[in-house]
Amino acid sequence: MLKEKIENLKKQFLAEIEKISAQGGSASGGRPSDEALFELEKKYTGRKSEFIGILKSLKDLSPEEKKQIGELANNTKNQIWEIIKNKRQEISENSFDAEKEKIDVTIPGKKKSAGHFNPISLVRRDIEDIFVSMGYEIADGPEVETGWYNFDALNIPKDHPARDMQDTFFLDAKDGEEKLSMRSQTSAVQARYMEKNKPPLRIIVPGKCYRREATDTTHDHTFYQFEALIAGENVNVGNLKFTAQEFFSAFFKQDVTVRLRPSYFPFVEPGFEFDISCTVCGGKGCRACKGGGWLEIGGAGMVNQNVFVSAGYPRNKYQGFAWGFGLERLAMMKYKIDDVRLFHSGDLRFIKQF
Ligand code: PHE
Repeated sequence: MLKEKIENLKKQFLAEIEKISAQGGSASGGRPSDEALFELEKKYTGRKSEFIGILKSLKDLSPEEKKQIGELANNTKNQIWEIIKNKRQEISENSFDAEKEKIDVTIPGKKKSAGHFNPISLVRRDIEDIFVSMGYEIADGPEVETGWYNFDALNIPKDHPARDMQDTFFLDAKDGEEKLSMRSQTSAVQARYMEKNKPPLRIIVPGKCYRREATDTTHDHTFYQFEALIAGENVNVGNLKFTAQEFFSAFFKQDVTVRLRPSYFPFVEPGFEFDISCTVCGGKGCRACKGGGWLEIGGAGMVNQNVFVSAGYPRNKYQGFAWGFGLERLAMMKYKIDDVRLFHSGDLRFIKQF
């Protein structure tokens, strides 16, 4: 009876150790965990185990049986301990499986796609860096503007034909209230800034502008400009030309020459149309500059005294220069883009190239 019991216990033990080894999973190489082994040892050979119960009951047996069963019980217990000991050793020897855990450091990593700047932002940041390094401040203004700042303060009186040079989008207004509009030029920030700041001052104003425009490859209804404005004493056209030349040379990373052609903008006197030497051929003449060697950039000039007066400065005390250049224009030149409408198209095939 006892003999059978002992043999059954052994069978049971063997089945159980196999089971907890399998539970360790294939990743463990079929090895049980330390805790599971400890529990098993306690269950089969611990103080309260059936096994110890059997050993204790040996005293009631005949000397002959005592010897036989005692020996069997002891052997079995030792076998159990031996098996457990071996398992423990296996665990400690193999807790680090170099083969399974090796990492191939030469496998190419998974690329995370990070966002990036829109070409307009890239160009804006370039421009800002260059002007900040020249001691300029970066100023800002609202995109919804009053007629005063967008036109009147810039020496463009109501009913003056010059207002027609720029058409814009008007917002609805209640009866008797002024109709605000989307600003048509960053020049609108000139008077806003000068009202609050006295010369000497040097600013650039990068920002969005809007015009009611039939769009084509070089015109869009929504676009960016960057205004430059400097005011102080003894400012002249030479300063304008030199500053612009320094800027464009830094921006295009090549020597750029500047050309001023007489033109008319109500808020400057004298006013210029502003060209730079072609960044593709250097001025010799090519397809990009249609053979002329020059690229049109925007408008510029010496600040009209009427603008200073509108901003609250005394007449004829200060001089200054100003320009307004299109940001898209510069981005198109820098990155060789042939349609301005791409910038606002939302086309990822375009955006992803930058
Ligand atoms: N604001 C003008 C335009 O958008 C450009 C300009 C700015 C011209 C400053 C002269 C001086 O066309």
